[in-house]
Amino acid sequence: GLPERITIWEVGARDGLQNESAIVPVDVKLEFLDRMADAGSAVLEATSFVHPKWVPQLADAEELLARLDQRPGVRYPVLVPNERGLDRALKAGVRDIAIFASATETFANRNLNRTLDEQFAMFEPVVTRARAEGLDVRGYVSMCFGDPWEGPVAREQVVAVGKRLLDMGCSQLSLGDTIGVATPGQVKALLGMFDSVEPLAVHFHDTYGQALANTYASLECGVTTVDASAGGLGGCPYAESATGNLATEDLVWMLDGLGVQHGVDLDKLVDTSKWMSGVLGRPSPSGVVRALRG
Ligand code: HMG
Ligand code: MG
Repeated sequence: GLPERITIWEVGARDGLQNESAIVPVDVKLEFLDRMADAGSAVLEATSFVHPKWVPQLADAEELLARLDQRPGVRYPVLVPNERGLDRALKAGVRDIAIFASATETFANRNLNRTLDEQFAMFEPVVTRARAEGLDVRGYVSMCFGDPWEGPVAREQVVAVGKRLLDMGCSQLSLGDTIGVATPGQVKALLGMFDSVEPLAVHFHDTYGQALANTYASLECGVTTVDASAGGLGGCPYAESATGNLATEDLVWMLDGLGVQHGVDLDKLVDTSKWMSGVLGRPSPSGVVRALRG
């Protein structure tokens, strides 16, 4: 059966806006996060403390957090790749972080400037220190199904990377289909290789239109945290074939139909995406946004 309730992990402000070619003003980001909190989001991934030259779109992380009106009961995790990033996040008062590992050698190199093996040495002190400070740490694994340079990715390799992150002290593992090539049978096969589904979250990009089908397959496997971005914003600047994440609206429409609770108000969500698409000057790729935009 399906879970009664799930958590939608909203990544629009981070995964979405990191991939905009234009730099979105911090006021727009703040309004986006406010609107999403009003719509009922429980987790709003806010930004990244990465090198500003690597992701100039999120170079305003300090200002964003200083000005953010953090709502009680809402979590605002941020991405942190290394100790320098952790120092910045701690100084900004962050309580929730995510590290982001690669399942493949090529993407570790392109996204982190590290080998597959070296990435763990970079993350280890981050997780240890963050846990000692009482922070919660999520671990992402990218390229879980396919890699634009290496092709199909062996499930054993994904599980090995994931296990190292859990052993390090991550409380949750978000399995990323960074380039959106997975199909539901592959998703079920990968999820089934972990000892327990409990710490697993899923992160689908919608490049091939499979994100919702893959999410449904994940729910059937017992996954209760699903990543999505309002209006389908998103991608990854270091993986060119990646497009936007699963649109939160598409997810919410399906969950409402299934009777799976999630706490997000669809009307407020669609209003937010309509507004954002005006700001960005392009329509949302989400079918639900297009159908409901009025
Ligand atoms: P590097 O060049 O190897 O860094 O980059 P380094 O450790 O050699 O340091 C070089 C200089 O950068 C030093 O300065 C550091 O202080 C500085 P210097 O001493 O030369 O003056 N530096 C920093 N400054 C600010 N903040 C920092 C920081 N770190 C070092 N955090 C690094 C390594 C990891 C920093 C770089 O590769 C990087 O920033 N990568 C981030 C790429 C990224 O954000 N990608 C997108 C997120 S992943 C994603 O989207 C996938 C996901 O959605 C899941 C999925 O879809 O699969 C999560
Ligand atoms: Mg992503």
